[in-house]
Amino acid sequence: MTKDKPSPRQSLAVFPGSFDPITNGHLDIVERGLRVFDRVRTAILMNPEKKPLFSIDERVKLIRDTYADEPRVEIDTFSGLLVDYAEKVGATVILRGIRAISDFEFEFQMALMNRRLNPAIETVFMMPAESYSYVSSRLVKEIFQLGGRVSDLVPPVVERRLCEVFGTPIPPDSPSGPRGTP
Ligand code: PNS
Repeated sequence: MTKDKPSPRQSLAVFPGSFDPITNGHLDIVERGLRVFDRVRTAILMNPEKKPLFSIDERVKLIRDTYADEPRVEIDTFSGLLVDYAEKVGATVILRGIRAISDFEFEFQMALMNRRLNPAIETVFMMPAESYSYVSSRLVKEIFQLGGRVSDLVPPVVERRLCEVFGTPIPPDSPSGPRGTP
């Protein structure tokens, strides 16, 4: 699932989260991350206290399928402290997206706490496109369960899996490409 530590010249950013499931907002941040870092590793937190819709294995598979054609995007899971995980895999950057002011307080607190825990690891915030500033995994699940369309909010593999989980027909015009391409 993981790759070796990057060579010193290759930059690696860890993009941590719950990814339950991955959304187009996450994809937007990954793509922006790839403009700045050589590799971006999506790292899914294994949190026994949360009751996710998708199991860890399913979330890994959804991300893997989404990025099947992009070797610079890696997928991993972690437990324990994020900074310890980042250090272990040789990443010096934690990548996080900030959608709105409401995200800021929690993200600011986490970034400063992570810096206190390990000053060698820097948190870098990126802003998604405005069109994703209101997209969250929680809202996607809620909208889908209430019969709303989520095609523009998640990659096609996720929409298909949501249809399977909730026994809903797959929309006929759902794109077949991994990240929404025809
Ligand atoms: O997608 P989320 O749920 O907003 O991601 C939160 C996440 C995984 C980034 C955060 O909960 C985390 O880093 N957890 C790992 C445990 C840890 O390091 N806690 C201290 C953070 S200051």
